[in-house]
Amino acid sequence: MQQTLEPLITSAWLAAWDRGDLDALDGLVTPSYTRTSKATGATVDLAGLKSEIAAVREAFPDLRTTVDDVVEGTGTVAVFWTSTGTHTHEYLGVPATGLTVQTRGSNILILNDGKIVKETVTWDGSELLAGLGIRPLRGIAAPVVPVGGEGAGEFAELDPSLMKAFNRQFITGVTVVTTKEGDTPKGLAANSYCSVSLEPPLVLVCVQKTSSTYPALFSSSHLGINILGTEQLNTVKTFASKAPDKFAELQWHDGPKGSPLLDGSAASLEAEIQERFQAKTHTVFICRVRHAEISETAPMVYKAGHFFDGAELAEL
Ligand SMILES: Cc1cc2nc3c(=O)[nH]c(=O)nc-3n(C[C@H](O)[C@H](O)[C@H](O)COP(=O)(O)O)c2cc1C
Repeated sequence: MQQTLEPLITSAWLAAWDRGDLDALDGLVTPSYTRTSKATGATVDLAGLKSEIAAVREAFPDLRTTVDDVVEGTGTVAVFWTSTGTHTHEYLGVPATGLTVQTRGSNILILNDGKIVKETVTWDGSELLAGLGIRPLRGIAAPVVPVGGEGAGEFAELDPSLMKAFNRQFITGVTVVTTKEGDTPKGLAANSYCSVSLEPPLVLVCVQKTSSTYPALFSSSHLGINILGTEQLNTVKTFASKAPDKFAELQWHDGPKGSPLLDGSAASLEAEIQERFQAKTHTVFICRVRHAEISETAPMVYKAGHFFDGAELAEL
């Protein structure tokens, strides 16, 4: 390469990523430009890249990037970069955490006549998400790419009605998962509660990201899990709804760290959130139990959309 491209690439790069001047990229690429992520396999054109930059800049408005190194070869350029920013808006389904995080990556650019034809990005976002306290589940964060030839369709999704039918055969209790948003108690009905281990005392619960309780839950250090009793049919209906103040008619008290624990529950616990695994539409919260209250009240039983009396179970 006779003339070094480094100053041009660095200045357009910083203009776009740090100042939001997306059109600065226009002179850098050919009309057929594509950018492929090695992590996800997704390919975008220039417009797609601009949207990605806009989304990152919206989530991390104080984004600052350092181009650490630009290595020029014959017809190729490798760019090594580091970005730092404060997470003030939702990104990749993760509500704002207020945390300042750093992430690094490298891009390989293929050139033609001094313009970028093709770009491959080695950045999978997991370092960034880890900095936000998130772990994407392997194989779930990335799209499934069907393979051709023998074994094609191997990864075809299961029919959702079959999955529903399977779940309807599974009997659970019902819990209300709680937290606070400031001083306001928040909560939702959940039957995804599961004990993970006794020593250490770990439990998990899966919460849909569209839940109105989710942002408060996500940013909490602790949560409450209340196993509902047979007298709490109205309570489960309230917490399975979008009612604005689900606690209005209820007696409840604070756990040691302030998580709302519902009076009349079969059992309640307060736990410290230790992991927030991203599983597409849901987040799996893995929590270490710090406090538990057990009552004599029989638990409510849930099967296939119906609630049953846990005191009337017939032993086999
Ligand atoms: C028996 C039962 C179990 C439920 N389990 C879950 C669950 O495990 N995770 C979840 O995100 N939603 C679950 N839901 C749905 C939520 O309770 C429901 O979407 C609720 O309206 C959410 O309220 P919110 O948006 O105010 O947080 C369940 C509902 C019922 C009735």
